[in-house]
Amino acid sequence: MNSPIVLKIGGSIITDKSSAVPKALPGTIERIAGELAGVCNENSPLILVHGAGSFGHPLAKQFKLTEQFDTKGLIETHRSVKSLNAMVVDALVSAGVPALPVHPLSCAMLEQGRISDMQTAPIHEMLNRGLVPVLHGDVAMDSVWGMDILSGDQIVPYVARKMGAELIGIGSNIDGVLDNKGQNIPEVTPATFDGIRKYIGGSSHTDVTGGMLGKVQELVELAGKSDISSRIFDASAAGSIIRFLQGETMGTLIQKNK
Ligand SMILES: Nc1ncnc2c1ncn2[C@@H]1O[C@H](COP(=O)(O)OP(=O)(O)O)[C@@H](O)[C@H]1O
Ligand SMILES: [Mg+2]
Repeated sequence: MNSPIVLKIGGSIITDKSSAVPKALPGTIERIAGELAGVCNENSPLILVHGAGSFGHPLAKQFKLTEQFDTKGLIETHRSVKSLNAMVVDALVSAGVPALPVHPLSCAMLEQGRISDMQTAPIHEMLNRGLVPVLHGDVAMDSVWGMDILSGDQIVPYVARKMGAELIGIGSNIDGVLDNKGQNIPEVTPATFDGIRKYIGGSSHTDVTGGMLGKVQELVELAGKSDISSRIFDASAAGSIIRFLQGETMGTLIQKNK
């Protein structure tokens, strides 16, 4: 099997993140499914991860899920993100992509918010059979805290390492990492991150998992301990996902020190 690509589509792209209640963007979900249908084939295995957007973050905040265990919050947040996942998987299948849902709650274990174990054998076999597993930001059980939020941004580097990916794509609503003048920073490495970090903040919307800084921290850490590079790009424009998959230079590339 060729090395898989791990592609994350942010909740900022497939939902209206300014909404306090779950609001999907079905037209965008269909557009993305169509783009993936055009490029998916058995020779280029793909693992898809999507964010929770307004299906997850407002509920997580309401039930204070990053601070406390809450049975109702756990159940309702999972039900909500699962419904978004079903919309994504349905759109992919309708477009001709052989997609299947993989719910992190059911296969990942956390320890103080970090993945301590995740069952990836089913994902491996799906890829072997030309299927596209679709994971998502979720709630998950935690051996110390009972539960916590498991962001898509944490799932991506974990799965990429375990599945031997060489490339990660992070589609968000902005042209990669921007500096204090709003200019795109084309490249970040562990060596340059300290100087750039001051420009990077959280999300402009409700996002309990750290917005852009959360993403960059995860990906810089990965670049420091592997050969896997990641590209954060603006996935809001039509054709952007195809252009990323074709290897276009866009957004911000995060890679190991040169
Ligand atoms: N330096 C920065 N460069 C780019 N985005 C930034 C920066 N600092 C903060 N952000 C915010 O991070 C947001 C992206 O993170 P997030 O809302 O979590 O997206 P997603 O839903 O795709 O995970 C951007 O829309 C922007 O508001
Ligand atoms: Mg986010």
